[in-house]
Amino acid sequence: MMPVRRDVHPHLPPERICDWHERGHHVTHYINALSIFFPAGERFFMDSVRNYRDQLTDPALRQAVAGFIGQEAMHTREHILYNRLLDQAGLPAARLERMVARLLDLLRRILPRSWQLAHTIALEHYTAMMAGGLLADARHLGDAEAGYRQVWTWHALEETEHKAVAYDVWNAVMKPGPYRYLVRAGTMLTTTVTFWMLVFAFHVRLVMADRTCPHKLLGFGSALQYLWGSPGVLRRMVPEWLDYFRPGFHPWDADNRAQLARIGPLLAEIEATAVRAGASPRAPSIRGA
Ligand SMILES: [Fe+2]
Ligand SMILES: [Fe+2]
Repeated sequence: MMPVRRDVHPHLPPERICDWHERGHHVTHYINALSIFFPAGERFFMDSVRNYRDQLTDPALRQAVAGFIGQEAMHTREHILYNRLLDQAGLPAARLERMVARLLDLLRRILPRSWQLAHTIALEHYTAMMAGGLLADARHLGDAEAGYRQVWTWHALEETEHKAVAYDVWNAVMKPGPYRYLVRAGTMLTTTVTFWMLVFAFHVRLVMADRTCPHKLLGFGSALQYLWGSPGVLRRMVPEWLDYFRPGFHPWDADNRAQLARIGPLLAEIEATAVRAGASPRAPSIRGA
């Protein structure tokens, strides 16, 4: 599996940033909260893999790393634009983004590089699980506004395409044995606690700041149903989360590469949507918004 960088510009109508999901504001803001993490998070992923690039001897893995960095750079760029739409709607996205950036800068300062890479492979497993669920079950996005459905589907497809790159780097540079296993498994446990605490806090913060959101407190029932009931976005992730603790785990053990055939048609659809909206695919209106 060789990830390739694609210069993609989804068209996101600013007026739909708070309710682009068919299930309303609360589910929309759960997914918007995830977007807050990407600019600083994906820079952290790129840096922690880049730290080891010169130690890699396998030319195919070096090429995969270049593709991984290219894809994450494109995701970062588009999620910065996405998050500015939240700011324009009066939501504190920039402030929350700075919190994530400060936390990750702290990890850069206090953790050895190997532990930074361990955080990256744990969080890449999270993105792979979320992406896999989104691609496998159309109810995750449902009948969402086209541009938002496209940006999340594009991101999910590329997260799937490169899901093993950081992990393969980890296996290539870390000596096999109990230490490698314990760092990997332990980091997944700590990451699970901190990441979901922050997602929850950011989700609540976005909902509370959204002046157009009806039933602010009661509406969380719809998010709960979405995450733990039907379709059960988080509930269905549990077996794959547990699988990460298996000593011989590899991301491609969950083989969903057939989904990648969707990339070509999706890119054509993104371009068509941008053209229909009157925006050039290279410079969609999101930039001027
Ligand atoms: Fe990404
Ligand atoms: Fe990724």
